[in-house]
Amino acid sequence: MGMSQTGIQGQNFGPGLTKSVEFLGSVAKRPNKPAPEIGEPGPVLLVGAPGVGKGTQADNLAKLWGVPKISTGDILRANVANGTALGVQADRIMKLGGLVPDQIMTEMVADRLDLSDTATGFILDGFPRTVRQAQWLDGYLSIQRRGAHLGVISMCMDLEQIVKRVIYRRVCPLCKTVYNAQYIPPKQVGRCDKDGSELEQRSDDSLEVFQTRLDVFKQETEPLIQYYRDHSLFIEVDADKPPTLVTRDIVAGLMGLRTLMSR
Ligand code: AP5
Repeated sequence: MGMSQTGIQGQNFGPGLTKSVEFLGSVAKRPNKPAPEIGEPGPVLLVGAPGVGKGTQADNLAKLWGVPKISTGDILRANVANGTALGVQADRIMKLGGLVPDQIMTEMVADRLDLSDTATGFILDGFPRTVRQAQWLDGYLSIQRRGAHLGVISMCMDLEQIVKRVIYRRVCPLCKTVYNAQYIPPKQVGRCDKDGSELEQRSDDSLEVFQTRLDVFKQETEPLIQYYRDHSLFIEVDADKPPTLVTRDIVAGLMGLRTLMSR
């Protein structure tokens, strides 16, 4: 069977299958379903439509692997909150559902990747988002990371269902924990479980702006998915499941990839 038929392409991440997915709780502990084993992830990218659950999975995987989550949306929102020059520029674009220019994004990500905590791996959430950004990242990995291969997880879900995730998303302004009023509610309505702050809605989570973000996704990011399908280690996962099951599928997918590539 060719690699393209499996949806898996490229090379191994590296040695060592050491940890197990214990935090998956009841799912991982089912006696007839042994927890998948994981090793060092290397660079990993989560790609998918706005609201499909990239940030939620990036948090789970970062915790599991002990590597940083690098969310360009979070970095931009922090700049907006701090009133930096970049934040002022980005705020206008984000509120309309557009994309911040590629050069600003690549410089921002280069600065973040320079930090030493990315040495054994990192989870990219929301970057690259255009083919141009992906080409920049390819160059970066080739030169700065000795040709490390990116594991690309494409998260798939019916767009009709995604809109509910976006409309009901609520975020803690203090600790940034993400909830969903319908699917992942806090214990007390409208209050963060961790610090009791009043939860907020993101300014780009209105129906109208979501529609624009979706259009931009189709125009700019779907070609990116095709680019990675052709050029990288590539896995598709069904995102329309409870978060722990999606995490399990991602880890199992990467494991399958490692096993296949080490043969
Ligand atoms: P960004 O913050 O990256 O937004 P996005 O890609 O649109 O993705 P979201 O954060 O909306 O959703 P998500 O997929 O992370 O879903 P989440 O886990 O939160 O970017 C924002 C803006 O910044 C962009 O529009 C652009 O302007 C700019 N930008 C960022 N990066 C850029 C770049 N590289 N280039 C140019 N511009 C850039 O989940 C969504 C909801 O669903 C939550 O409520 C969550 O609790 C819930 N949920 C998650 N998983 C599940 C599940 N399995 N079951 C039920 N509910 C779930």
